[in-house]
Amino acid sequence: MFKKLLRLIRGARVAVPGTDALEEGQARKVSIGDPLAGGLELLLCRVEGKIHAVDTRCPHEGGYLVPGPLMEGRYALCPLHNYRFDPRNGKPIGATCPKAKVFKVVEEDGQAEIRF
Ligand code: FES
Repeated sequence: MFKKLLRLIRGARVAVPGTDALEEGQARKVSIGDPLAGGLELLLCRVEGKIHAVDTRCPHEGGYLVPGPLMEGRYALCPLHNYRFDPRNGKPIGATCPKAKVFKVVEEDGQAEIRF
């Protein structure tokens, strides 16, 4: 379902307003489409001044990355097994599992544009 959705929206850009309110080391969840109908839930994370978008679905065993303060101010957390992921590139920190899916983001005038 996820790959099917990605094929449909590949090349699409989705604007998310109000990202200038997202402070350093914080993460906020946004829904792209209807999650019950194959949409996506992303975590927007501000790390080193930039916004990064990471799929909330954990690549380990089906948990979900959570919004709120990032661990150590920079890592998204999946509370199921407490794995941490770097939202800049999706890499797991201190764990061996696949990378979390990340998306390119351009932020301008307080609005993030997520590119698929
Ligand atoms: S399912 Fe996310 S850390 Fe295990």
